[in-house]
Amino acid sequence: MSHPTPRILSGVQPSGKLHLGNYFGAIRQHIALQDEGECFFFIADYHALTTIQDPPQLAENVRGVALDYLALGLDPARTAFFRQSEVPEVTELAWILSTVTGMGLIERAHSYKDKLARGIAPTAGLFNYPVLMAADILIYRSNLVPVGQDQVQHIEMTRDMAGYFNQTYSPVFPLPAARLDRAPTVPGTDGKKMSKSYGNTIEIFAEGKELKDSVMRIVTDSTPVEAPKEPENVFALYSLFATDAERESLAARYRAGGMGYGDAKKLLVEKIDSHFAQARARRKELEKNPDAVEAALRRGAEKAGAEAKETMRLVREATGLRSKGDLR
Ligand code: TRP
Repeated sequence: MSHPTPRILSGVQPSGKLHLGNYFGAIRQHIALQDEGECFFFIADYHALTTIQDPPQLAENVRGVALDYLALGLDPARTAFFRQSEVPEVTELAWILSTVTGMGLIERAHSYKDKLARGIAPTAGLFNYPVLMAADILIYRSNLVPVGQDQVQHIEMTRDMAGYFNQTYSPVFPLPAARLDRAPTVPGTDGKKMSKSYGNTIEIFAEGKELKDSVMRIVTDSTPVEAPKEPENVFALYSLFATDAERESLAARYRAGGMGYGDAKKLLVEKIDSHFAQARARRKELEKNPDAVEAALRRGAEKAGAEAKETMRLVREATGLRSKGDLR
């Protein structure tokens, strides 16, 4: 039941254009994890239906996430990269898990309460979001789930659901663990955590005037150019891209005075430009070649689908929905 190399799975919500917070908080780790295990990464389009009910918008977001990940180094030959909805078995598993899951467990989910507080409609789907997420993880019998702090409770709930199933029936599911990366905090243009819901993002693939405009929006104080300054927000963003030496040298320039925030912003734009130069070029190529993107996702869905079918065979047998000799 356990795999010789860990099986690593994560999902990305196609909720809009990906930004530097997504990059340093998740994408960069996902790309690096391809060297550490067998990876399954998917675009959580079923989950997105709990918040996006605009078909062209959903399709565009999914396309964007696929392009972004492929451009940033996701290798579809090594990693199963796919749309969640291309493996519809996951919804069947979600149903079965819901029958061994107490209401109390899901009622305790923070994310549901947070989403209600943000004005998202309290549908049954939104409430059951953690059950589908557990099914995502368990259907590939995953060992490690790289996520941000905000998703840790969902992984704990997944372990609980796997445990209930294994106890009620038979031990089909390994218990997955969250893998929390020491991701740096990425401040948004207003100094709060960078987040789409705060409207303070700098997009990964913004360039030219668009990028400059977002960087110019970074809020700074009114210390005059001549005055010494403490390294702040612009500096924090620059640091994400800089070497130690570059970081120290910029900090020294802040403290010496004579440098305006505009100069620091210019340096930041240069860093973003050079860091993403290759990925931008690759993204433009991929945009011209939608068939290649589709083929990558299809290949991922095939691998994921085969794994999901095998898990569902075990689940159906374990529950009595089918017995061993049955044809399906
Ligand atoms: N809920 C996750 C998020 O909002 C996305 C997600 C869906 C996910 N299914 C998953 C993450 C399974 C990890 C594993 O970021």
